[in-house]
Amino acid sequence: MCGICGVVGHKNATPLIVEALRRLEYRGYDSAGIASLVDGRIARRRAAGKLDNLQAVLDVQPLKGITGIGHTRWATHGLPNEINAHPHATDRVAIVHNGIIENYEELKAEMVAIGRHFTSETDTECVAQLVDFYLDQGMTPREAASKTLGRLQGAYALAMIFTGHEGLLIGARHGAPLAVGFGEGEMFLGSDSLALAPLARRIAYLDDGDWCVLQPDNVEFYDASGQRVQRAVQTIALIAGTVGKDGYRHYMEKELHEHPVVIGQTLQRMIDPVTRAIALPEFPFDMAALPRAIITACGSAFYAGLVARYWLEAEARLPVDIDVASELRYRNPPLTPSGMALMISQSGETADTLAALRSLREREQHIVSILNVEGSTMGRESDVVLGMVAGPEISVASTKAFTAQLSVLAVLTIAIARARGAMSAKREADLLAHLLDLPSRAAEIFSRVSDIQAMAASVAEARDVLYLGRGICFPVAQEGALKLKEISYIHAEAYAAGEMKHGPISLIDKDVPIVVIAPSTILFDKTLSNIQEAKARGGRIMAFTDQKGAERLSGLAEHMVILPDVDPFVAPILYTIPVQILAYEVALRRGTDVDQPRNLAKSVTVE
Ligand code: F6R
Repeated sequence: MCGICGVVGHKNATPLIVEALRRLEYRGYDSAGIASLVDGRIARRRAAGKLDNLQAVLDVQPLKGITGIGHTRWATHGLPNEINAHPHATDRVAIVHNGIIENYEELKAEMVAIGRHFTSETDTECVAQLVDFYLDQGMTPREAASKTLGRLQGAYALAMIFTGHEGLLIGARHGAPLAVGFGEGEMFLGSDSLALAPLARRIAYLDDGDWCVLQPDNVEFYDASGQRVQRAVQTIALIAGTVGKDGYRHYMEKELHEHPVVIGQTLQRMIDPVTRAIALPEFPFDMAALPRAIITACGSAFYAGLVARYWLEAEARLPVDIDVASELRYRNPPLTPSGMALMISQSGETADTLAALRSLREREQHIVSILNVEGSTMGRESDVVLGMVAGPEISVASTKAFTAQLSVLAVLTIAIARARGAMSAKREADLLAHLLDLPSRAAEIFSRVSDIQAMAASVAEARDVLYLGRGICFPVAQEGALKLKEISYIHAEAYAAGEMKHGPISLIDKDVPIVVIAPSTILFDKTLSNIQEAKARGGRIMAFTDQKGAERLSGLAEHMVILPDVDPFVAPILYTIPVQILAYEVALRRGTDVDQPRNLAKSVTVE
């Protein structure tokens, strides 16, 4: 969270920084700011709120300069106001930071004790003060930066510019991502490749602990011990043009419409369309010999993992443990060496998932990561990366990445099941056929949007909403509830339908809509009983089902969305789409900020 960028070149840096910040805004949008060197001195513009507010300030007070840094903030320490907005600066140095400086209180006390004055409530300002202190002692910018980095604890990606040093930009990375972009006579820093895409085709990622010195024509990389090192330069795909809204009202609407294509592209990458053979990257271990799997992720990605648990247990007969990464990393479960750790993450940068990955690696697990950003930190620290082909996901609430994750996990399940002798060739062929048929079935959902809108009109009036699902559709209910809370701010809870009678049934009255995920699988009758129990207590049923289910539900459900018939194996992928569309339609009716809901950020790079 928080996005940072920097430019050192030969033309006005401000528009380049604003463009990069626009592409980083998904990482936080509590405030934004820019600093550049104007006549050799640091000048800043900052504004609370979204980047548009900063742009409004820049319209009135333009900022020139060819060396500059920018920041878009997700507040950790201090209110999201202008004073706490980055860059933080002294007369000699300006700094932008993504992460948390854990020993900032100690460093601040040290600086205050020698008479230094702080203006913000942030942890970052102590970095600016420390660098300034070392510059004041006569150190060069490199020396001051290096000395300061040695004193910081916590996580950070930093970019710094220095008074009187036109053409110098210093970056550092420790536990938060940072990449260098190579231009023609100009160099860039950015939190991710998306930020750098319109500025540079060639990028290099800093390794953890690295810092770098950028000048318009070159970059020097140093590792944590101060040794000069080389970092691989790679060419990034041209994704500059793909971050527009393409005529949709919101990124989320656009990304919801991308589900069919994303599922198709992701499957195509793993299944040969002609031979229908699974083609995964090489695994450095024998799938057949796996003792067990452990799955971890956060938020929506975790719910994708929950679906995968059902698949891997039922189809591959592989024992699975699963937990959210923020718990798993401190849980210390007994693990058999040579198990498979499945990490699921859209961004590949989520701090909790990354920390869990590292602890699972230490415990001798094979790390298999399912990622949208394959060049991310998790990608670089995994034994195997299974890429989803979802393209940039800009809306803060995850949508298409979820179905892409499920598509990868479904194919992986089949591959493991076959390797373990748990699945027949016939079942493999059937399941792959169901998967390959999914993009067409997913596209059909958009002809049901008017039914979803009718349902949304009812749900939008509610203060609380219950989501119910059974078996493999329970995680879909969880995803639906999360999406609704995130973007409509309506309180929603998901329960395994059979659990309702053990507590949440007391919540049911005419004011609490109950959204039920009910494809006609072998559990349909059980779910139907739960629906009847809710109905008997005045509950208002909103059902996602198929034709057969609809016949049984008529007279019970206030609203129904009838989905194409699909095999139960792929049902969670298909049913996720209308459930996410429902959240979107409710949010529209509530007038919330759909793409950038309050308090959230897309890439959660703090613990
Ligand atoms: C929900 C959402 C979050 C993310 C979670 C993990 O809409 O977007 O719950 O799924 O923060 O993020 P990644 O997948 O980037 O690790």
